Amino acid sequence: MRVAIIGGGVIGLALGWRLAQRGVSVALFERDTVGRGASHAAAGMLAAACEAEPGEAALGVLNRTSLALWPDFAAEVEAASERSVGLRREGTMLVALNRDDAARLRHDMAFQHSQGIDLAWLTPGEAREREPYLAPQLAGAVFSPDDIQVDNRALVAALAEAFRRAGGALHEQATVARVETAQGRASGVVVDETFHPADVVVLAAGAWSGGVELPIARPPIRPVKGQMLAVQMNPADPLVRHVIWAPKAYLVPRADGRLVVGATVEERGFDDRMTAGGLYSLLDGAWRAVPGIEDLPVIETWVGFRPGSRDDAPVLGPSALPGLMFCTGHHRNGILLTPVTAAAMAATMIDGVVDPRVAPFGAARFDRLRSAA
Ligand code: GLY
Repeated sequence: MRVAIIGGGVIGLALGWRLAQRGVSVALFERDTVGRGASHAAAGMLAAACEAEPGEAALGVLNRTSLALWPDFAAEVEAASERSVGLRREGTMLVALNRDDAARLRHDMAFQHSQGIDLAWLTPGEAREREPYLAPQLAGAVFSPDDIQVDNRALVAALAEAFRRAGGALHEQATVARVETAQGRASGVVVDETFHPADVVVLAAGAWSGGVELPIARPPIRPVKGQMLAVQMNPADPLVRHVIWAPKAYLVPRADGRLVVGATVEERGFDDRMTAGGLYSLLDGAWRAVPGIEDLPVIETWVGFRPGSRDDAPVLGPSALPGLMFCTGHHRNGILLTPVTAAAMAATMIDGVVDPRVAPFGAARFDRLRSAA
């Protein structure tokens, strides 16, 4: 089987790697350089537990399934690439800065406990034992030991290396204009007027999935803008050691002392400008939780585009066109969902049967929503 993957983010790379490991001939086409889209912009939080919300039952299960796969997945990618992916297991703290925040966290925790998720309530004193620089007015915190983090930029480099070593062909600066058909099925992709034949084509272009011409309706994916910044801590004595979710920002510490602060959620298309309001809200949200950040140098600001579908869940599995697979729309959870997406999509493509883990996420659900409306 020859497979053409459109999109070189972590999703396309991991799927390509899994397929190549199983002896499939894989060509991956990336419009820019690999991993420069949402995979580069992300914070790398593997937050399946503390982000679990009512009304997202199927997605919550998929998130937690993928979280459970992460430690072995990280070890396997590192062994295959001989590169670290920076997995850190200190866990996540959700902090309450007033009584309203505390009531909301306790309410969410009751739901999360009902799902069997392991979370603990911390008094302000207990929270400060873990994170001494939290704001003095702290009203309490939730500790989530299972919500860990990975360095998403290191992950891109490791996956690209693992993919190449497994025999995958990586084409960068290669924009796929359209998917071609023959005898009623996908037959390959066109890049710069050159046709690349394939038995199966996978659309894994994240927020850019709508830019590829298809002979069927495109999956309903839109870019959801996120502004972010990073400050530099002293790596020998970091201000923050856990991932911190504050009411208006999250803070993600890296081993080299970088502290990632995110993120706005904006419906602005592909507008890639940092704004004064965006920067202000991130700094204010982070400063209210950890006032000591005010002395740290800002070392980077950036904008990313999450691929959001109509119901904000991913679009995974066969499309209405035989030979064309969708593997996109991971929205806020692309890094988290990488292991399960790659495993389940590779199994679906190789076995010819939709893997039960991705079955709830087929594109046909949007037709059902349309006909019900
Ligand atoms: N997953 C974090 C974000 O989307 O900002």
